[in-house]
Amino acid sequence: MDVPVTGNLATDLVWPRDGVTRVPFRVFSDQAIYAEEQKRLFRGPIWNFLCLEIEIPKAGDWRLATVGETPVVVTRDEHGMIHALVNRCAHKGALVCLQERGNAKALTCVYHSWSYDLAGHLQSVAFRHGVRGKGGMPEDFDPAQHRLEPLRIEVFCGLVFGTFSEETVPVEDYLGETMARMIRRNLGRKLRMLGMHSQIIHNNWKLYAENVRDSYHATLLHTFYTTFKVNRLDMDGGMLLSEDGRHSISYAKRDTLQQSEEYQKVHAAQYQSALAAPELLDSWTEFEDGVTHCIQTVFPTLVVQNTLNSLAVRFFTPRGIDKTELFWIYLGLQDDDEAQTRTRLMQSNLTGAAGLVSLEDGCINEFVQRGTRGSEDRNAFLEMGGRDVASSDGSRATETGIRGFWKGYRELMGF
Ligand SMILES: [Fe+2]
Repeated sequence: MDVPVTGNLATDLVWPRDGVTRVPFRVFSDQAIYAEEQKRLFRGPIWNFLCLEIEIPKAGDWRLATVGETPVVVTRDEHGMIHALVNRCAHKGALVCLQERGNAKALTCVYHSWSYDLAGHLQSVAFRHGVRGKGGMPEDFDPAQHRLEPLRIEVFCGLVFGTFSEETVPVEDYLGETMARMIRRNLGRKLRMLGMHSQIIHNNWKLYAENVRDSYHATLLHTFYTTFKVNRLDMDGGMLLSEDGRHSISYAKRDTLQQSEEYQKVHAAQYQSALAAPELLDSWTEFEDGVTHCIQTVFPTLVVQNTLNSLAVRFFTPRGIDKTELFWIYLGLQDDDEAQTRTRLMQSNLTGAAGLVSLEDGCINEFVQRGTRGSEDRNAFLEMGGRDVASSDGSRATETGIRGFWKGYRELMGF
């Protein structure tokens, strides 16, 4: 059901009559739609992933984030409270925090030295009372009226989320029971950061949102998965969706591989290769549910992944209509021993910018961005696995997760 949206749309886009089984290519290249997304979606009733709690463990720690294109800084104050603030000086609008992360007692803008406490309250203004009795702010200047704009935040399993909307429901309600349970399974433990990096991909952010919900492509495009039997559709698995369809889990159980005959015709499965270091795929049983591969998406731009013993969070943010920054954070547990840490680090080679599996995703979305140029009036076709938006336990030859993303997108955008 579409949520009614009031106000004028800046664009004249009419969604195709076939609903979420069609996606107008124009949504990947239209500047007016991109501008609307900043307001309706990123500042709408959704939770945006900002950072991990363990990235800002100490009082005074801060870390940059973005919500859509809006720069944000996440801080931990002297009482241990986490705050998310728009990283924009209340004076002239300059960025206040300039480095990716830091630790400070106060946040001070370099432009005119306006200084804020870690909760974003304006503490001091340089030359407020003038210099040598001349100049300065008017008598009625009230610092309380000029603070860094706060976002509402909530922390769930160490994930710090922020929202601009008063209407956003609590994170656990936003996720729904199935999604919350899987996040608890993977991240509801004492986490430790092993490393992080980011990469620029040259495509609209929504192409990556589709890609991470696309269980159909995973064993076709990614020859590594298929060749080394890490993740295949002839393993027991499925695609689980949240009730609203926006979030998804694609999962597989490696021990149940059937070697089904459909793979005989799949080009990727005929790829002949061997690993020089097969210990790359050595793993230990970490969970009793048999799931060895799990890609979970949280609308709109968060992914939690667990393949063998590799545990990671990835998230992405628009950097313009056809440019997206994709971040990878690799995780371990505080009580991992040295060998376990080494295994997790080794398996982090599967994903990331140069990952043995994920490197193809770094270019395939760009191929769509380029392939659809000049065809803004045409649509993508998404009927694999049917036309509905629902969990498909048992099959991952489906695009139901992508249809779920577009269902949520349309509700928020009013298309
Ligand atoms: Fe992929």
